[in-house]
Amino acid sequence: MEDRRIFPEEGFPEGQMKVELHVGSGGSIWIGDEMAGYYILREHDGITDMIRFAVLPEFRSRGVGRFMLACALQHATTERIVLHVKKTNRSALRLYTRENFQICGEILGSWVMCRTTSE
Ligand SMILES: CC(C)(COP(=O)(O)OP(=O)(O)OC[C@H]1O[C@@H](n2cnc3c(N)ncnc32)[C@H](O)[C@@H]1OP(=O)(O)O)[C@@H](O)C(=O)NCCC(=O)NCCS
Repeated sequence: MEDRRIFPEEGFPEGQMKVELHVGSGGSIWIGDEMAGYYILREHDGITDMIRFAVLPEFRSRGVGRFMLACALQHATTERIVLHVKKTNRSALRLYTRENFQICGEILGSWVMCRTTSE
């Protein structure tokens, strides 16, 4: 699994990624037999926290992120979803803003963004 390649500082080790994706509340998009992207959701206090969202480099800028975000929103079982995104991560910020996420806080150089899951 690619998590440490995409998130070198905080990436999950391979074994934990398998658990997160297959046992935890996660999902992945496959193109042919290759995983193109994945997300991981955690629910707490009635809110879904999207703790991972990534498209593998070779599959970016083809609409996979937008499609996968729609899947994650459908997957979430709470009314609100929240995520953290580094203020310098322009492509992710563009995607989330385009998909109606709004800044609802900030923490340690990241925006906290949220939206309802059902809009
Ligand atoms: C942020 C991220 C998830 C975006 O994924 P993506 O698959 O590239 O996103 P999309 O393809 O849906 O949209 C990205 C761009 O491709 C364009 N695009 C969408 N469909 C397209 C298509 N069929 N053909 C060409 N371009 C297309 C979009 O218009 C968008 O361009 P813009 O941002 O300049 O407006 C990805 O860059 C990533 O995984 N980054 C590293 C991990 C990360 O930062 N995750 C977020 C942590 S909070």
